[in-house]
Amino acid sequence: MTNFDEVIDRRDTHSAKWDAMEPLYGVSPDDGISMWVADMDFHPPQAVSAAVQGMVDHGVYGYYAMDASYKAAICGWMDRRHGWTVDLDWIFSTHGLVNGTALCIQTYSNAGDGVILFTPVYHAFAKVINANNRRIVESELVNNNGRYEMDLAALESQLKGDEKMVILCSPHNPGGRVWSKPELKALADFCVKHDLILVSDEIHHDLVYGDNKHTVMSLAAPEIINRLVMLTASSKTFNIAGAHVGNVIIEDPDLRAQFAATYLAGGNSPNSFGVIMTEAAYNDGEDWLNDLLDYLEENRRIFDAGIAAIPGLKSMDLSATYLAWVDFSGTGMPPEEFTKRVEQEAKIAANYGHTFGKGGENFLRFNIATRRELVEKAVKRLAAAFADLQ
Ligand SMILES: Cc1ncc(COP(=O)(O)O)c(C=O)c1O
Repeated sequence: MTNFDEVIDRRDTHSAKWDAMEPLYGVSPDDGISMWVADMDFHPPQAVSAAVQGMVDHGVYGYYAMDASYKAAICGWMDRRHGWTVDLDWIFSTHGLVNGTALCIQTYSNAGDGVILFTPVYHAFAKVINANNRRIVESELVNNNGRYEMDLAALESQLKGDEKMVILCSPHNPGGRVWSKPELKALADFCVKHDLILVSDEIHHDLVYGDNKHTVMSLAAPEIINRLVMLTASSKTFNIAGAHVGNVIIEDPDLRAQFAATYLAGGNSPNSFGVIMTEAAYNDGEDWLNDLLDYLEENRRIFDAGIAAIPGLKSMDLSATYLAWVDFSGTGMPPEEFTKRVEQEAKIAANYGHTFGKGGENFLRFNIATRRELVEKAVKRLAAAFADLQ
């Protein structure tokens, strides 16, 4: 069994999480705790390291071909873990899912068109929409007693008619919501009514806790296959984000042909490291994942209990993901003040809520996928930084 408590020093390894925390957040990696970018401080499954070691031992790093076993590994995983039958031919391997999202925007919309997001949401969506000169339509999620809900009636009243696409984050980052089947179905109906392409980013689909059950969009609403693009990846699940590999899965032949044209135009082709790691992870990483989920669940419990004990702070119920979304509005402090305390007193680097869009202003996002000792230390430091509220 993997020892997730192992101390692994990631400093000076070009780790975004640990080596960029000081320039970005002013928190020194010497005594600070990095809880921002979404990767984990753990080794991946042994099979992944062995697959990379096999490449190193061979020592020739040429072009990759013959991807049937890689795609079969993806299909096997989707079938076993998600009850979703995927055909090999539906899969494109992209340079990660931000790249996959950007290719979807370029394929299914034109400059100036509206692209709908349910905010607060993963910040890179807005970045690629903007960079492609599309218009972001922010549909603010309703915070119903610490649980996000979509407000499709409000969204409907916002529409101008130039909207072409919805990008859904399922499960949701941040906030950790696992959308229910009726919620997914309602969104699918909305897309049909307003003639929208639905891009369902399900990168966090394996990181679901307890009795919560993730439903694949294509299973929740099979009738919208002709407007649905599914995004999944091995990167969050197995902590191989640096391999930059993602699965864009498109069932409908017409949508697939359109995407294939953009893929070709961009000169895309698979990265052998990412592909080989993915194949190993999907074929041999299941036990590791089950252990990881147990470990993360306990981290979540400790973090939530620690936050709940600080008056004015509230962590959203994390049904999925390892990204805790903490509401500081109960402190009555402006974001500059609570952020200053977190960074300078608790010495923790956490993502700024406003970067996730409307509704995120009074939040910080904390990545709890680190060794338990650091999670425990983080909650103690936060309690001390906000001790005057006790
Ligand atoms: C919803 C979502 N999509 C995509 C990504 C990143 O994808 P990639 O690293 O494959 O580009 C993240 C990373 O946090 C994410 O949360």
